[in-house]
Parts: sequence; structure tokens; C-alpha cells
Amino acid sequence: MAKITAVIDIGSNSARMVIYEKTSRFAFHLLHEVKSRVRLPENAYKNGGNLQSEAMQRTYDALENFLSIASSFKARKILCVATSALRDAPNKQEFISRVRTGLKLNIKVIDGEKEALYGAIACSNLLPKADALTIDIGGGSTEFSYIINGKVENTLSLALGTVRLKELYFDKNDIEGARAYINQELDKLSDIQISNLIGIGGTFRALSRAIMKDLKYPLNKLHSFEFSAKTMSSFIDKIMNANERKLKSLNIRPDRFDVIKPGSLIISELLKRKSDIDNLITSGVGVREGVYLSDLLRGQKDSGFPANFNPSVRYLLDSYIIDKNHSNHLAKLSKSIFDLTYESYDIDEKYKKALVIGAKLSPIGASLHNYSSNQHSYYLIQTALEYGFTHQEIILIATLTKYAKRKAPATAHITEYKNILPDERVAEFLSFIISLSSALLAHRPRDLKYEIGFSGNCLHVSSKENLYLVKDAVKNLEFPQGIRVEFK
Ligand code: LMR
Ligand code: MG
Repeated sequence: MAKITAVIDIGSNSARMVIYEKTSRFAFHLLHEVKSRVRLPENAYKNGGNLQSEAMQRTYDALENFLSIASSFKARKILCVATSALRDAPNKQEFISRVRTGLKLNIKVIDGEKEALYGAIACSNLLPKADALTIDIGGGSTEFSYIINGKVENTLSLALGTVRLKELYFDKNDIEGARAYINQELDKLSDIQISNLIGIGGTFRALSRAIMKDLKYPLNKLHSFEFSAKTMSSFIDKIMNANERKLKSLNIRPDRFDVIKPGSLIISELLKRKSDIDNLITSGVGVREGVYLSDLLRGQKDSGFPANFNPSVRYLLDSYIIDKNHSNHLAKLSKSIFDLTYESYDIDEKYKKALVIGAKLSPIGASLHNYSSNQHSYYLIQTALEYGFTHQEIILIATLTKYAKRKAPATAHITEYKNILPDERVAEFLSFIISLSSALLAHRPRDLKYEIGFSGNCLHVSSKENLYLVKDAVKNLEFPQGIRVEFK
């Protein structure tokens, strides 16, 4: 697969392009993202689905600009898909041909099943593992799928979309008509008991963003944001009754004003019918990432990443670790200190995963600048550790690297993230392990030659190496209560 790839999704409300850079076999990151609210099927639904010339021209212009951006990034491969707007249009060939001739771009119109599948592939690979129902609310259609044990099942596409509902019902103020129509479509959804709902698409993201602001949520990250179905339902009640001024004060952006109610109504009708759903998860990824991953993971078992592989961790290691040996030693040492001590200090074993990743990634900030390197690691991890982790894991890993130096995490920091961080004692203990490992590697050995034992609250460290700098570094650490280090 090309090193730089652009993926364009011509949705029915907005057209979007992402540009990904691959940093190794399965690792990638987002280089650029652009969207334009072209609303290709504007006025089409009342006209037998036929695309109107103004909307086609807008979309053509946006695509022309997208292509110039893609070429500025030297994208070697451009994948372009279109969903319901073109799928449903009797005159789609006119637009497709114009784009092919004028822009040399091939638009692939995907069917509803495929659209649902792409969204689900993105979620099953790039969100923390969970059995879930996915919903992708688009401008023209809404896709569903079930992810059960990592496998995508029961994909379904319904003719429910925000622009469609707006033009057919909301513009005539027929909310009850919209409600009846939504329910008639939702009858087709198979009823599998499930507690998680993953939301994909512009509407779900806009609502999630607004809810995060409403809750004063401390982490600025949409992907993987979790909240309760109750929170969503009561927020939607406010949206449904809001005028434009109120929508603005609810943190809905002006370009969403006319489609946020139709989109919200789809969600609230779904939640009413499926009372088993109590947890909602926001996805920042969707059809575009599904298209990209299908290409990237071609030939992989179940179209998934290899076991224990995480694309964001690998991207950070590929791009920011200067001394791979050192990073591996930090991870190994941290793991063995954890294994020796966690039971005595009553630390849940589940924290080992975050600890080991935190240790491995802790030196990344140094590649930006040596001074304040822990601060750089913290920031990089908080923003770029994007895929496959819960917010709890992301902020914990970031916090561990921030304080992987001499001092324990600041109480102010723990307080700021208190609902998503473990308690202070745990954060302190884990960050101490990485700080200690880092001190024990102050001399940057080529091979790890430590023998470490643990008894009576004391870590006994022995090595035949010259530990002059190491002993100094360990002496300067801030130790948690009741733990000591002795050199033999
Ligand atoms: C789509 O139709 O998939 C997107 O345009 C959805 C949106 O709300 O932007
Ligand atoms: Mg879409």
C-alpha cells in the first residue's frame, strides 16, 4: 500500500477527505482532514432522488480542491467512495462521468451493506474491544451493524438520513410524520440484546461534542468518548425544543442547525425501542477509515490487526523513538518491577498494560526537544494515542509519562482528571515504577543485566555494571510510602 493515501467519502450532508501516512507495515496516522458541507442531494428527495445542478456543481468544486490538497501531500493513492446520495440518484451517471472526465477521479458508489460494513470495520479495529451495535447516521441513509466478539454481523442500511428527513418532514413541520417513518424503518433492525451503542457520523459527533462541553469533560478527544444513554436522551430533549439561539448555546455549530433535529430524532427513537442500550461510545472513525483499513489489512485474518498490535502505539514508536533499545528496556524493567510488587501494594493487575505502554512511550518527547521532554511525551500521547484505547487508558498512560521523572503526579493534575484517572495512590505507584526504571537505565546499557528481587517492602537490585550515575538518579527519586531500593 502507498505511503500516503487519501480517502474521500462523498456523504449526503458533507464530503470529507482524510490523508493517511503509513509509518510501517500496519501503522498509520492522520496527516490531514478536510470536509465541506456540499449537501449533494439537496432538493433531490422531492424530485425523485434526482441530483440538482447547483448541488452537483458544489460537490464537483469541493472534489477539485480536495484533489489539489491530496496532490500537495503527494498522495500516491486516492480512494473515493460515495454513499446514499449517489446510490439513490437516477441521474448519478451524469455526475460520475463528469468527475471522471474533468477530474480523473473514479467514484465508487457503495451499497448500503458495504457502507455499514466499512463503518463497522473501522470501529471494531480502532475502538477498544466491545460488543456493540453501531449506528452511522448520514444525510441520506443510516447504517447499522452488530460487532460481536470482534466480528461484524447483521449489517443493515435504512433510508433514514438527516437531509432526507429534513426535506421530507421537518421542512413541513411534520415531526410526527418523521417519527412514524423512522419507526417504520427501525422495525427492520434485528433485535439482539446489547448494552453498547457506537455512534458514527457527523450528527453523532456533533451531539457528543456538545455533551462533552455540557459535562465539562476534561479530555479534549471525541473518539472513544463514553457516556450514558440517559445523558444522550435528556440532551436530545433539549435539542428538540430549541430554537437557533438555544442550539448555539447548547454548542451546536451553525452548519448543523437544520439537520441536528432530524438526526437527534433517529437516535432518540432508537434508544426508546432498545432499552438494553445503556452505554454510548462516540466514534471518530467511519466509512473512510473502513475503506482505508480494508486496503491496509487485506489478507489479514478476519481483516484485523495482528494480535497485540496497536496502530497508534506503533506510529508513535516509529516516529518519535530515537533509541529503540532504551524504550524496550524501560518496558521490560517496568514490567518486572510491577510483577514483583503489585500484589504487596494492592494494585490491580489490569494496570499492567498501561504501565508497559507508558514505559515504552515515555521517551518520545525527547525527539521534539530534550528540555521538558516529559511534558512533550504527555502532550503527544494525549493527542496522538488515538486508536484502540479507552479515555481512561489514554489519560493514565499520558499521566505516567508526564511524571516519569523524579516527582509523583501533582494532586492538581489528578483532580483535573479525577473521573477518568485511577486514584492518586495507583497513579503515584505506577509513575514511580517508570521513574525508577528510567533511573536504573541512566547509564543506557546495551543489554539489560539487572537481577531484581523483592522482600520486606524493599527492591533488591544487583548488577555487575558500573552503576555510578544510576545510584545518583535513584537517590533523587520521590518514593511512594513504604517502598525502598537497595543495591547489592
Ligand atoms: C453522511 O451523509 O454520511 C455525512 O455527510 C453525515 C453528516 O452528518 O455530515
Ligand atoms: Mg456517511
